[in-house]
Amino acid sequence: MSGDGSGARPEPPPGTGAPAAPFRATLARSAALFAAFRAEQTDPDRFYGALARDTVAQLRSYTALDRAVVVDVGGGPGYFADELRAAGARCVCVDPDPAELRLRDGRAPDTAIMGSALRLPVRSGSVDVCLSSNVLEHVPEPAAMAAEMVRATRPGGLVYLSYTLWLSPWGGHETSPWHYLGGRYAAERFARRNGRRPKNDFGRTMFAVSAARMLRWVRARSDVEAVDVVPRYLPRWMKPVVRIPLLREIVAWNLLLVLRKRTDAPTAG
Ligand SMILES: C[S@@+](CC[C@H](N)C(=O)[O-])C[C@H]1O[C@@H](n2cnc3c(N)ncnc32)[C@H](O)[C@@H]1O
Repeated sequence: MSGDGSGARPEPPPGTGAPAAPFRATLARSAALFAAFRAEQTDPDRFYGALARDTVAQLRSYTALDRAVVVDVGGGPGYFADELRAAGARCVCVDPDPAELRLRDGRAPDTAIMGSALRLPVRSGSVDVCLSSNVLEHVPEPAAMAAEMVRATRPGGLVYLSYTLWLSPWGGHETSPWHYLGGRYAAERFARRNGRRPKNDFGRTMFAVSAARMLRWVRARSDVEAVDVVPRYLPRWMKPVVRIPLLREIVAWNLLLVLRKRTDAPTAG
C-alpha cells in the first residue's frame, strides 16, 4: 500500500505513541463529545480531533495499537489516521473522494489511498485492525462493506465498525429530523429550502441502515465473533439498550460493532 505523495504529514516512528489512557464511557465523556459535535460546522478541527482521540482511546481498550497495521476505511482527511499513528500504529486511510481527502488543509494525506470500502485495495488477511467510523450509512451495500473489512483483516485481528443508525435523531444527518417522514422527502425538503442538494442525499450518498440488519449480519457470519456491541457515544450504563429491538434504533444513536476474526477463518479470497 503506498501513498499518493501529495501530502507531507510525517509518520512518527512506531512505539512513540503516548501511553494508553484508560478509556471510560462516562456521562461527562458523552457530554464533551456532543458539545464538540455542535461545533462541527464552525470548528471541524475541534470536533474531528476530539472524535478521533476518543475513538483511538476506545479502540485501545480492545487491542494494542503499537506497530499494528490499521486501515481506516472512509477516513476522509485523516484525523483518525493521525491519532492512530500517534498511538504507534501504521495506518493507511482508504477513501474514494478526493475532496474529502483534501478537506483539512487542501492536501490529501500522504498515507491515503483512493479506493472504495466496497472493494478495498488491500490484500486479504493483511491488516491487524480494520476501522471505519460513520461510513457504513454512506454505501449502498452495507453488508458488502462489512464483509470487505472482515476479508482485509488477519485471523485474530479486529474490525471496528461504527455507523449512525437511520432511526436515530441524527439518522438523516443535515436533513434530520425530517428523515422520520422519509429519506426522500427529507432530501427534497432540504433542496427546496437551501437551493442545493444535501451532501448526505438519501438514496445517493446516504442510506438507511438499522441495528437489526447489521446484528443479523454478524450472527450469520461464521468467521467473526462479536467482542462488543455498544452505543458508541453513550455512557457505559446505557449499553443494555442495544439488546432492546426498536428502542435501540432510536436511542443508541450510533452503533459500534467490535468484531474479532476467528483464528481458524480462511484468509484467501
Ligand atoms: C461522514 S464522513 C466520515 C469521516 C470519518 N470516518 C469520521 O468518522 O469522521 C464519511 C466518509 O465516507 C467516505 N465514503 C463514502 N463512500 C465511501 C466508500 N464507498 N468507500 C469508502 N469511503 C466512502 C466519504 O468520502 C467520507 O470521507
